[in-house]
Amino acid sequence: MFLMSELTLPFNYNYTNVLKLVSILAHSLFYFYFFWLTGTAIVSYFLEFFKRDDASKQFVKVLLHFPLKKISTLIVLGIIPLIVIYSIDLIWLKGNEFDSIHNLSLINLFLFILSILALYSYRSTFDLLVVFSKTVLDKDSKDLIELMESNLKKHKLSGLIGTIGLLSSLFLYSILNVAKLDYNQIDYRFDFFSYLLNVQVYLKFLYYLLISISLVYLVNLFLNFGWAETQLEGSIELNDFIKERSLKGAMISVLVQPAFILIELLLFPKNSLSYMIFLTSGIAVILVFIILNQLNAYSKESISNYLKYSFFMFIMVVISISSRDVIGISNVLKSKTVEIAQMYTTYEENLKNKLNIKTVSINGEEIFSAKCSACHRFDAKLVGPPYNTVLPKYENNREQLVKFILNPVKVDPEYPPMPAQGLIPPEAEAVADYILKVYKENSK
Ligand code: HEC
Repeated sequence: MFLMSELTLPFNYNYTNVLKLVSILAHSLFYFYFFWLTGTAIVSYFLEFFKRDDASKQFVKVLLHFPLKKISTLIVLGIIPLIVIYSIDLIWLKGNEFDSIHNLSLINLFLFILSILALYSYRSTFDLLVVFSKTVLDKDSKDLIELMESNLKKHKLSGLIGTIGLLSSLFLYSILNVAKLDYNQIDYRFDFFSYLLNVQVYLKFLYYLLISISLVYLVNLFLNFGWAETQLEGSIELNDFIKERSLKGAMISVLVQPAFILIELLLFPKNSLSYMIFLTSGIAVILVFIILNQLNAYSKESISNYLKYSFFMFIMVVISISSRDVIGISNVLKSKTVEIAQMYTTYEENLKNKLNIKTVSINGEEIFSAKCSACHRFDAKLVGPPYNTVLPKYENNREQLVKFILNPVKVDPEYPPMPAQGLIPPEAEAVADYILKVYKENSK
């Protein structure tokens, strides 16, 4: 476990955005499935063992039908994304200070798989119970009655394990996400127990729970009433009962979402904020209102398209929320990422030396054309000052120039501040050498 982070290589800075994108994709798939299953487990268990009436039991049968229908769904939407998320974390959160986070993620992965196995058993024993209840039992047959009782026990237990397992997994997941956002470079230490008392963790957990409940009802409405291929068969009475329940559940759980989206936004640490965080939050809130509108329309006239739209829009809400989580974490880790990228440059150099490959040197002229020429000429003022007037002071001070390029500070009140160009040190050195060289040639 602690060895894992040694196994991954440092990565090239250019791939940061690719990593971010893959991570968002994996998170979106995983959130969808994870939340849907968690919601299904909670609602089913509640309806079956607390409500107990026949209609509720039929409803449970409908709820359990889709999420666990095929193993391939579990693998494609659950296991693979979770492993991708874990691997990207190993690359991204590199260093001993993250070991306990990785260990907790791994524990969570096993907890997730275990809970799902329990849910499979919950579902299959449920089917068996249904068959039993339909068969006229020979009351004298002890064997049959025993079999049925043991099946019922197994059913109850596996349902309980699955539900509690997924809830715990969701809670651990909230801790992990809050902990990653808390990363600061100075003295980061992951203290599991302090997170048990952290308000932010509970808010996140509640919000994830809320999404889970919305998902159960919205997916259920979409699959059973909004889409011709999977239309629910059965008695009209029962269908109406299920439809009405789901509609109510969906509307209430969706209605509270904007409050949570905004409260959570307020709790994002300052260094994790960027305009994308506000954009994704805004999109989520707007979508939520449109969904409410669609559900309301559906309750007035049952046109299945309303359900389709609300389902797809809720998927977009899930994508927005997972993007927000990933982007927040990547913002916090920006300086860490630069550090790792430097490790990569060193690693690459060493490897190339070892393999006797001639290193392709970073080209200062190319960097100048790509990153500086939009604002700088040597002999004329553009957005920035002409190099011929600012470079004299750096002529014998290359280090200072490199430092300025890596991290520009305000110099001349005549000009706006120069934005940082996101170069890594070897690139800044190359471009500094290039502009100094051209400047010297010009001044001859
Ligand atoms: C978006 C426009 C912009 C880009 C792109 C840009 N600069 Fe600048 N640069 C400026 C501005 C504006 C100033 C003046 C800042 C000040 O005086 O505070 C400046 C100032 C400078 C200075 C003078 C610093 C001093 O001490 O007076 C140097 C050197 C410089 N830039 C190098 C670069 C290099 C190298 C690149 C490319 C990697 C680059 N700049 C890219 C806008 C830009």
